[in-house]
Amino acid sequence: MKPIIAANWKMNKTVGESVLFAERLSNEFAKMEDKDIIIAPPFTALHSVAAVLKGSALHLSAQNMHWDEKGAYTGEISAGMLIDVGCEYVIIGHSERRNLFAEKDEYINQKIKTAFKMNLKPIFCIGETLNERNLEKTFEILRRQIKEGLNNILSDDIKRIVFAYEPVWAIGTGKTATAQQAEEAHRYIRKAIIDLFGKDAGANNIRIIYGGSVNQENIAGLMDQPDINGALVGGASLNFESFAKIINF
Ligand code: PGA
Repeated sequence: MKPIIAANWKMNKTVGESVLFAERLSNEFAKMEDKDIIIAPPFTALHSVAAVLKGSALHLSAQNMHWDEKGAYTGEISAGMLIDVGCEYVIIGHSERRNLFAEKDEYINQKIKTAFKMNLKPIFCIGETLNERNLEKTFEILRRQIKEGLNNILSDDIKRIVFAYEPVWAIGTGKTATAQQAEEAHRYIRKAIIDLFGKDAGANNIRIIYGGSVNQENIAGLMDQPDINGALVGGASLNFESFAKIINF
């Protein structure tokens, strides 16, 4: 499976900074065929970054979208708008959205359905909090997030989802899950996809990427695991040199 290295810039970088980064990335990695490199700049920079990435092997993602196709939702961005500015992927269900903006599984499910309708590929984030892990509820939480987030989604579409396991306690904290902890969760996620959606969903070919304090030191150990097919990188993707080292792990 082709590994994915994705950058989630969150609420960082101006248009100018994003374009400069994308130009450097394009100069170095435009022809990269053996890994899928995805960057998710803030909404304001998507259009300009799309112009820089055009014609390269690099991919563009948004960080969020609304579940409805259009309407009276002041301040929101639709899937169609993301397609319009050149996005191919969209991050859905990031724990910061779930926890800080009260996004429920039910909204996430709607968003995924709308993303498919508009031909955007979802990067679907799931993960447990520290408290849930301490209570040994990790698998139960992951299963609920998968089941409810992907309710009524066809096996054929499940195949097109990139799953991102992001333990909440490891995001932005410097505490990465050990490669073994991450592998254990990824293996469980693959099994849950088979249980919930059957063999047709092709769980063995679905890419499950890890996110949570990934950096140039820990990337190789994580990528050594059989069920870890890439990384979703926040903090360490903001600096070009560190992100380039992660790509070249
Ligand atoms: P982090 O963020 O790498 O800064 O922990 C990862 C993410 O939230 O996607």
